[in-house]
Amino acid sequence: MIKNLYKIPKHVAIIMDGNGRWAKRRGLPRVFGHREGAKAVERILKAALNTEIKWLSVFAFSTENWGRPKEEVDAIMSLLVEYVNTKVPTLIEDNVRLRFIGRKEGLPEMILKAMEEGEKATEHCTGLNFVVALNYSGKAEIVDAVNKILEEGRIDITEKDFKNYLYIPDMPEPDLLIRTSGEKRISNFMLWELAYTELYFTNLMWPDFDEEEFYKALYFYQTRERRFGKVIG
Ligand code: IPE
Ligand code: IPE
Ligand code: MG
Repeated sequence: MIKNLYKIPKHVAIIMDGNGRWAKRRGLPRVFGHREGAKAVERILKAALNTEIKWLSVFAFSTENWGRPKEEVDAIMSLLVEYVNTKVPTLIEDNVRLRFIGRKEGLPEMILKAMEEGEKATEHCTGLNFVVALNYSGKAEIVDAVNKILEEGRIDITEKDFKNYLYIPDMPEPDLLIRTSGEKRISNFMLWELAYTELYFTNLMWPDFDEEEFYKALYFYQTRERRFGKVIG
């Protein structure tokens, strides 16, 4: 257990990008990149378990990703089901609670079933919260929250109230966001929650991201002075 490090983020969010390019560079179909990407998820989850991080969230599939070729979408969905169905016992052993964020509408039945079972089976786990963003869009999360508020007939709301209508109300805002593959954009991830998050970009493709690189991102975080708009010192 890596303890006593100066400033460990409570919540690390990751935009896992570059699976397709990783495969292309090797002359392989994009799907191979997603398969390698799934292995990277396991590595990073293990690495996070060696720290005092309490929340790890990963962007697995965006609402915009439906626009990709059907074979690729189907392969990603199958990988997700396979992941949930095979990894749950390990998650329980590691006291990891699996949670999903994103819109349920439009997801295939087999995915919904795996998601529900995975969440239920790990509900009692009190260690790390592992959040998988699937069919997720930051704008959609805000719109969904607004609609829930309208349904309740509320007319006056504070930022604190608003948070209660997000997909996981008790999820703390990410302290650190990591994006791989060299792209420096948010791509519709956690728009509300990232307001004051520290951003870390690396040129590595997601399948090449490993424990050491993850710790590098944590060290980067430790060098940041978070001011939240105030004057420090
Ligand atoms: C990230 O890798 C995984 C998903 C978006 C599902 P990409 O598939 O976006 O890989 P690149 O960006 O095309 O290389
Ligand atoms: C963001 O990556 C979504 C996920 C990692 C699931 P994309 O590859 O879809 O984003 P863009 O198209 O580069 O912005
Ligand atoms: Mg991409």
